[in-house]
Amino acid sequence: MAVGIKSPEDIQLMRKAGRLAAEVLEMIEPHVVPGISTGELDRICHDYIVNVQQAVPAPLNYNGFPKSICTSLNHVICHGIPSDTAILRSGDILNIDITVIKDGLHGDTSKMFIVGEVPVHASKLVRITQECLYKAIDIVRPGITLGDIGNTIQQYAEGNHYSVVREYCGHGIGRIFHEEPQVLHYGKPNTGLRIEEGMTFTIEPMINAGTRHTKLSRKDGWTVTTVDRRLSAQWEHTLAVTSDGCEVLTRRQAEPF
Ligand code: MF3
Ligand code: CO
Ligand code: CO
Repeated sequence: MAVGIKSPEDIQLMRKAGRLAAEVLEMIEPHVVPGISTGELDRICHDYIVNVQQAVPAPLNYNGFPKSICTSLNHVICHGIPSDTAILRSGDILNIDITVIKDGLHGDTSKMFIVGEVPVHASKLVRITQECLYKAIDIVRPGITLGDIGNTIQQYAEGNHYSVVREYCGHGIGRIFHEEPQVLHYGKPNTGLRIEEGMTFTIEPMINAGTRHTKLSRKDGWTVTTVDRRLSAQWEHTLAVTSDGCEVLTRRQAEPF
């Protein structure tokens, strides 16, 4: 099946949804401190999305997901479920993943938070993973391929002696949360789908300190962890491909692009 090209009207609506998702991450930042639970972070984000932004938190009830955001702590790779019993401690690294729906269009973005003081090995994983995302964003323009994106991420992660998660990937996005194409975070240059103006998709590398292997919780059916229990980090943006590059629809104020 062909990958859709969005209309200028839908891209304009995605700018709005993307900005709202980014603003949730900016809003929650001062709350991410030792002693708060991920359940409380979920409630704060849910109330802000619903009451202030008058938008919809896309994860809630998505394929049965029970909460409004994903909170993935330390060795959790992705899809962590917020809980009142998961209390943040100094030294933790936390991914908060926000997806909002506004006027029928999705904006999907996540970032890492450092809780209190963290060891250098943890902050380095967080920084290199963000650089993986930024290097990939840098090359996006019409004419490159999905393999080019994956290869850029894989080279930089593995060059730093980290591993790239294979089982989860970025995705097309628009009126549908997850649509074609799959955006793998590994691959070979000049292979796969060729990028065209008007495509909208996420890039969301999950990078592990140890081996790439993942384990899905049999207990809750959602939480994905590293098999070796070493740390994992993830950063995500939603992009729209322009005539000569891309627009980061979920850009936060502090970001360089
Ligand atoms: N936001 C995640 C992504 O980046 C998907 C979360 S699905 C959920 O694609 F059901 F876990 F919320
Ligand atoms: Co996503
Ligand atoms: Co996401």
